Amino acid sequence: MTFETDAAGERLPNGERRRWWKEAVVYQVYPRSFADSDGDGVGDIRGIVDRVGHLDDLGVDVVWLNPVYESPQADNGYDIADYRAIDEQYGTMADWEELLDTLHDHDIRLIMDLVVNHTSDEHDWFQNALTSRDADYRDYYVWREGRDAAEVDETYDVGPDGEVPPNDWESFFGGPAWAYHEATGEWYLHLFDRKQPDLNWENPDVRDDVFEMMNWWIEKGIDGFRMDVINLVSKPEGLPSTDPEAGIRTIDRVTNGPRVHEFLGEMRDRVLDRGFLTVGEMIGDPLPVEHARRYVSPGPDGDGLSMLFHFEHVLLDRGERIWETADWDLTDLKAVFDRWQAAFADEGWNSLYLNNHDQPRMVSRFGNDGEYRRESAKLLGTLLHTLRGTPYVYQGEELGMTNYPFESLDDFRDVGTLNPVRTALDRGVVESFDAVKEALRANSRDNARTPVQWSDEEHAGFSDAEPWISVNPNYGEVNAEAERADEDSVYHYYRRLVEFRHENDVVVYGDYDPLTPDHESLWAYTRTLGDERLFVVLNFADEATTYDAPAELVGDATLALGNYDADDGVDETLDLRPWEARVYRAR
Ligand code: GLC
Repeated sequence: MTFETDAAGERLPNGERRRWWKEAVVYQVYPRSFADSDGDGVGDIRGIVDRVGHLDDLGVDVVWLNPVYESPQADNGYDIADYRAIDEQYGTMADWEELLDTLHDHDIRLIMDLVVNHTSDEHDWFQNALTSRDADYRDYYVWREGRDAAEVDETYDVGPDGEVPPNDWESFFGGPAWAYHEATGEWYLHLFDRKQPDLNWENPDVRDDVFEMMNWWIEKGIDGFRMDVINLVSKPEGLPSTDPEAGIRTIDRVTNGPRVHEFLGEMRDRVLDRGFLTVGEMIGDPLPVEHARRYVSPGPDGDGLSMLFHFEHVLLDRGERIWETADWDLTDLKAVFDRWQAAFADEGWNSLYLNNHDQPRMVSRFGNDGEYRRESAKLLGTLLHTLRGTPYVYQGEELGMTNYPFESLDDFRDVGTLNPVRTALDRGVVESFDAVKEALRANSRDNARTPVQWSDEEHAGFSDAEPWISVNPNYGEVNAEAERADEDSVYHYYRRLVEFRHENDVVVYGDYDPLTPDHESLWAYTRTLGDERLFVVLNFADEATTYDAPAELVGDATLALGNYDADDGVDETLDLRPWEARVYRAR
């Protein structure tokens, strides 16, 4: 199967260049939790092959597959031991090839997860690096000598010979970002788990090997990459500690480093071309817009990625630690989206997501997962599909899946939850599990990782065996079979949203103009392309809300889509029901 790559990129009336990946809807598959075909309780590639029909019916254009490479699974596959092999748990390379062919046969493209900020400590490179300070692959990783405990202010568990880590950086999963290796007497950097040592991108051999590996996958026929924490690859010279007085935290030290654009430029020249969909995960709090523009700019000074994931909207309700939350309201959420819509209004492109494998379920977080679960799931879907950018649907989102009611620490599987909470409990920073239960219920990545609910059968039809993580107890009500059988379901509404995008250039390319930035519960905006205009109004509330819409918008408007039965007529005063979403064609 060959796809058109629209290399010429025809211009739309507003100057926007047509690209297949702007018109696409991406569906994210987290293989561990998608479907288990061999009854071991863990999802696998054949399970995905068996369910391609579900994706095809939904109408999506691209699958982003989370890591399926050989891995000890310390971080569910984000710790890769062999970039060119499929983990046995997930199947074989032949299974993967069948998946690629099956997707392509259904006109669905496949992008792979590229995890090259770090490898697993079980990767051959790291195993070799451990053998001596002069080992061939020693310099593939970041090694430093420790500091003398007597000379530092921070409190550490003092290591061997009175040493503490080379600097004060903290791992994103809690604790120091360094681990001591006794046999060679140095420390290695791991910004994530200690089983995920950071690669040293300063070493040109690392870059050669990474680019060669990427080209190897491209040869196999994939259509692009999702690039894991790619803005961490360039570390600052001298690896300076944080500077709390100046407000500089670890995340500020390690993101968008001095050579990041050079490294990505090299990747662009040696690996990528415009026909691919590339999406860089760019962590940062916040991500500076000037860097963001360079990452996605196609111009000569740009790194040429198709788009990026920033984190601003998913940090709004977060405290500093995973057991802390923060208050947010709709005006904050709108402000973030408005800013990013504006950032790429002339050049660059947005990705649009409200949840993924690292984030809680959107309906529990931004909607109401009780009485208005369906309505709010559809409203959030409407937002996702009618902003300017490429929507990413995370598995189960199209079914309106919700967060999991965690009851004890034993219910969790995620290192990103367990590491920091266990350390905090050990050190008495956190009193008890109960003291942090509500926050973990809200924040944990495991909310997204419970098995996809296919039916009301045992284990929700995900597996014949006890799954690796518990199924959400609401699977009797929330499941794909029930959703498919009901014309009014979240699933069928998502199908309409995808179709709407495919049929209307204005949904993809139209300019975005916000109408209600300060309203507490309404989010209204227009999308305009040439003489076509959409008018979208969303009521983010459990109560009915009235909106006095601008006369010129509602005059001859017709309702194109909505999550309630159409009410009669359109006039300037719109009475919106709880979590009602409407998309009008205005003139
Ligand atoms: C990204 C992944 C996340 C993983 C981390 C380290 O944020 O999405 O799941 O834990 O990188 O690879």
